[in-house]
Amino acid sequence: MIDTHSHINTILELNTDEILENAKRNGIEKVIVPAACKSDFDDIMKLIDKYENVYGMLGIHPSEAKDWDDSIIDKIREYSKNKKIVGIGEIGLDYYWDKSFNELQKEIFIKQIKLANSLNLPIDIHDREAHKDTFDIVKKYNKNSTIIMHCFSGSVEFAKECIKEGWYLGIGGVVTFKNAIKMKDVVKNVPIEKIILETDAPYLTPVPYRGKENQPAYVKFVAEEIAKIKNITINDVKNITTQNAERIFNI
Ligand code: NI
Repeated sequence: MIDTHSHINTILELNTDEILENAKRNGIEKVIVPAACKSDFDDIMKLIDKYENVYGMLGIHPSEAKDWDDSIIDKIREYSKNKKIVGIGEIGLDYYWDKSFNELQKEIFIKQIKLANSLNLPIDIHDREAHKDTFDIVKKYNKNSTIIMHCFSGSVEFAKECIKEGWYLGIGGVVTFKNAIKMKDVVKNVPIEKIILETDAPYLTPVPYRGKENQPAYVKFVAEEIAKIKNITINDVKNITTQNAERIFNI
């Protein structure tokens, strides 16, 4: 399996060797680490140099939009010469925490979509309570990048709209929560060929470790829950979602 979205550089309780050993022991062979802010970039470059099965994505998270300056574009361009930078992310819109700079969020989202297009890299999208604007901006500006809706949180209808555009959904620990009825319904109604697995570690820890710090090893609980919901074998979930991720990120 592949944990396609894991901030392992910010996990506190374990060191990177321990994180990756736990992952391997639980069948997670590869981990992709997204950036949220500028200061993540060098952490990620070090991780992908040191660990053969770790890959990176670069970008500025919408909540960090005030961190943006245009020199970041050159930095991402330069760092993306490394073939282990496999995507632009996490980028997008977040209207949940702070609505005071929505316009700035949109502006840097569009700049980063264009950057991803010019680098021909997939885009890992953060969309929190901003479904319509996210959808409209991606539809308008994205030309050639594969789109992943990381930590998908919309309705079945919205999921179907995204699938119709050829986009993928990143599914993580939330799907294991008892009260996540909408999420379970989305998984039931979306073909497994359009799903990739993720943790968003150290956040959103799945049951049975909810409340503790998340880590890539826990992707297995997400896979088990998806198998249960879709009434297919765990092996099918593992194989198909792994193939999806390998194809999308070219790893
Ligand atoms: Ni994240």
